[in-house]
Amino acid sequence: MAVKGLKKGVFITFEGAEGCGKSTHSKLLCGHIEAMGYTCVHTREPGGTSSGELIREVLLHSKDVEISDLSELFLFEACRSQIVKEVIIPSLAKKAIVICDRFSDATFSYQGYGGKVPLNIIKKLDDVATGGLKPDLTILLDVDTLTGLRRARRKGVDRMENKDLAYHRRVRAGYLKLAKLDPKRIRVIKVDGSIEKTQESVRREVDIVIQRYKRAG
Ligand code: TMP
Repeated sequence: MAVKGLKKGVFITFEGAEGCGKSTHSKLLCGHIEAMGYTCVHTREPGGTSSGELIREVLLHSKDVEISDLSELFLFEACRSQIVKEVIIPSLAKKAIVICDRFSDATFSYQGYGGKVPLNIIKKLDDVATGGLKPDLTILLDVDTLTGLRRARRKGVDRMENKDLAYHRRVRAGYLKLAKLDPKRIRVIKVDGSIEKTQESVRREVDIVIQRYKRAG
């Protein structure tokens, strides 16, 4: 099938607290986008580049290693700086649809609201790491904290999932606050039904954005 054209690349991010099903839904969405004839680049944070995947190991799977709140922030932003330069900007320049599991909103919600690092510090660093790049659309999958954590912890517990319940409750509330501040970009989808029903809602939001940037004809 010929690849369909867009007026510009489209940048879509998936966000949500632990166990919200974001990887399942972003993968399904990518399949849907390709089936429509568009080029889709699917990536994730932390990770998505060779150095980013190495840093991901440190952030999520290092044991008995002290990582301060600020070091954690720098490591997430280091990953971001790399993926923006190596993957996201070049793909958007080719007018692809880029789907990234997590991006800046995760840092504000986890390190900011969850970890209590001042939001103005995060904003400064994040602006440097992203060069000001913002998603065209962010899908926030909102799940009850305990339900999500239980689901996530079934696969084993990483360093972030291991943080306490109060931390994860602040993360969820932080995400919802960000969505209230930017309701046009961040679309909240409640995860309380079947995968099919949630995916239908995801596609509805994405189709609106694709229509906006579709080439005529
Ligand atoms: P995930 O790939 O399963 O979503 O795991 C990534 C973990 O890293 C998750 O617990 C959220 C966390 N995270 C942050 O704390 N800050 C960030 O900026 C990003 C991108 C992820």
